[in-house]
Amino acid sequence: MRIEIMHGDLTMRGVDAIVNAANSSLLGGGGVDGAIHRAAGPELLEACRELRRTQLPDGLPVGDAVGTPGFRLPARWVVHTVGPNRHAGQTDPELLASCFRESLAVAGELGARSVAFPAISAGIYGWDAREVAEVAHDAVTAFSVSGARGAANGSPLDLVEFVLFSEDTTAVFRAVFGR
Ligand code: APR
Repeated sequence: MRIEIMHGDLTMRGVDAIVNAANSSLLGGGGVDGAIHRAAGPELLEACRELRRTQLPDGLPVGDAVGTPGFRLPARWVVHTVGPNRHAGQTDPELLASCFRESLAVAGELGARSVAFPAISAGIYGWDAREVAEVAHDAVTAFSVSGARGAANGSPLDLVEFVLFSEDTTAVFRAVFGR
C-alpha cells in the first residue's frame, strides 16, 4: 500500500474515495465539509439526509465513518467521518485514530482501491496538525499491515493520499511521514 503526501484540494482528487471531515449531523458545514458538499452538488446532502432518516437517526458518532456516492466529485465515493473536537474537550487521540481506521475499513468495504484524507480535526476542531499527522501515520501504517493480512477479504487498498490544504500542514505531514 503506497502512501502519498501532497499539498492540494481534496475535492479535486480523482481517487476512488475521499474522506470528509464532517460533523455528527452529516448535514454539511464549513472547511473541507463545505468544500466537498459544494463540489459534489445537492445530491450529496440528500444522500446524507437519507442516512439520517434511516440508519443514523442520531447522527454519526465521533470516530465512526459512513460512505455515500461522490455524485459530481471526481471521486466515486465520499467516506464521512467525525473527528474529535478539541474545543468540546474531545482530546483522546484514540477517537482520531478511529476516524482513520474506520474510514479505511469503510472505503475497503465499498471496494475502493485508493483513498484520500484531509487533516481530520486540524481545522475548526482545533487539533494540532503534528498530532493529527502522528495519529494518522500510526493508524494508516497499522492498517497497511493488518489490512494486508486481511487481504483475504479481497479489497486491499493500493494507495492512501493525505491531501493538505496549506504548505505548513503539508510540511508537518511530510516530516512525520519521513517524506
Ligand atoms: N482540501 C483539503 N483540505 C482542506 C480543504 C480542501 N478543500 N478545505 C479545508 N481543508 C483542511 C483544513 O485546512 C484543515 O487542515 O482540512 C483540515 C480539516 O479542517 P476542517 O475542514 O475545519 O475540519 P475539522 O477540523 O475536522 O472540523 C470539522 O468543521 O467544516 C466543519 O462540518 C465540519 O463541524 C465540522 C468541523
